[in-house]
Amino acid sequence: MRFLSTRSSLCLMQTKPQAAGSLETLLAYNFVGGRELAGASATFSRRNPANREDIVTLAPESTREDVRAACEAARTAAERWARTPAPQRALVLGRFARLLSDAKESLARFVAREMGKPLREARGSVQEAIDTAEFFQSEGRRLYGQTVPSELPHKELFTYRRSLGVVGLITAGNFPIAVPSWKIVPALLCGNTVVWKPSEDAPGCATLFLELLRRAGVPDGVVNVVHGGGSGGAGEFLIAAVEQGLVDKISFTGSTAVGRKIGEVCGRALQIPSLELGGKNPLVILADADLDLAIEGAVWASFGTAGQRCTSAGNIIVDKRVMPVVRSELARRAQALAIGDPLDERSDYGPLINERFLERWILQRATGIDDGAELLLDGRRVSVGEEPRGFLGDASRGLYATPRIFDQVKMSMRIAQEECFGPTVNLVEVDGPDEALAAANGTPYGLSSAVYTRDARCMLRFKEELRAGMTSINNSTTGAEAHLPFGGNGWSGNGTRESGIWVLDAYSRWQAVNVDLSGKLQKAQIDLESKAALEPLGFGALVR
Ligand code: UN1
Repeated sequence: MRFLSTRSSLCLMQTKPQAAGSLETLLAYNFVGGRELAGASATFSRRNPANREDIVTLAPESTREDVRAACEAARTAAERWARTPAPQRALVLGRFARLLSDAKESLARFVAREMGKPLREARGSVQEAIDTAEFFQSEGRRLYGQTVPSELPHKELFTYRRSLGVVGLITAGNFPIAVPSWKIVPALLCGNTVVWKPSEDAPGCATLFLELLRRAGVPDGVVNVVHGGGSGGAGEFLIAAVEQGLVDKISFTGSTAVGRKIGEVCGRALQIPSLELGGKNPLVILADADLDLAIEGAVWASFGTAGQRCTSAGNIIVDKRVMPVVRSELARRAQALAIGDPLDERSDYGPLINERFLERWILQRATGIDDGAELLLDGRRVSVGEEPRGFLGDASRGLYATPRIFDQVKMSMRIAQEECFGPTVNLVEVDGPDEALAAANGTPYGLSSAVYTRDARCMLRFKEELRAGMTSINNSTTGAEAHLPFGGNGWSGNGTRESGIWVLDAYSRWQAVNVDLSGKLQKAQIDLESKAALEPLGFGALVR
């Protein structure tokens, strides 16, 4: 297997041949102040989750000093970039969109190889970044402020969006092109400079992403990249930089536990971080639903990306009248999924992203059984000699798992409450829409949600009463579009949103300006010349 397409379209990348054969390892680098930093003393390797012998990327393990240098480089570049007119900043993003489009296929192949998403989905995830960059190219010609009427004559009021300064971005590995674009693109558009700590699961994707940004013409110091781990590594150093006044804003996609810690540090610094955290997303199937559509949506929401989206369904909440059909059909269709090599076009889902996810997913089986749930499908790690029918991977080398479906799940069980990345989902039986809503709102999370029904009143009720940042009516919990607000409530985040115009509030602050041309001191609230005209007739007399 060679990735010539990756090399030929991104030919500036440094690679080295692997001893074992024709595979090549991408050499990731830290990028600080427009310079590639060579010679880090420690490195880490990222292996292909479908083939643990394939070292996809070798990346530097950044030190505290590396991260500090990146923050300082971003600070140095900040003023000039903030003063660059927004339409010109946006031109860079437009070029980036075109470069992403040109490289879409090779990038998608690299995404599939490095983090294990099947090609079809990998292409979609690159498309999401293209959509984002295109959207914000045009936003550069808006980035509107407002003109606001003053209560006083000869006085004008305006609002302006101002940049924040240096933003520190920490991204997850499951959407290694799309999610970084959700942060980097609007952060740049708003005139901020960036220090990016990509996921350890996708340092190569980050390097290709950076390569395209460089070619798009991002000035030196405007985007800086530091690779490494989270806790005890570059991620932690970047959060510490907030306390040292080196970073003005953090945007993080990852676990709720880490999000809480980041929130504490940023709160002390009086900053509002963007926290996109976990989910235990409900997908409700009411008795009147189009069952075929609902089950198709449930299978996709549960097992797409091997269940490793933060929007993946966690609990399938089903009215008891249709539970027997849903139960048997869901199991049948889940078993028919083709598991295998992400680069095989026929694969429905690939491996788990890393050993940690696989181990947690394995442990979740015992938790469910302890809780009293039943296994409708006993998903297991795929091992040699026990491959499922139609398996398209290499069980000896990959982190594959078959679908797990828990039945007879109660909302009080840990498996109904705790997020678990991987191909696992729960069946929760309810009696009618009231119970369905209570179950859907019955976790501390609130990211995505879905309801299948044909009843317009139910649609309205669920729209109004589901406590999630995103709600799908007759559609899966996954697959948010790039120009709608993305984000959650409760344990899923702190209420900030990514994507579309809404993300602008995360990367800019409002300045209110008033211009008084009257030539005299006019006191707001006090010198209202035509005050009498504002009072209802007779009101003055009443209070005297
Ligand atoms: C994520 O899993 O962090 O809505 C992002 C979706 C995708 C993005 C998911 N567009 O499923």
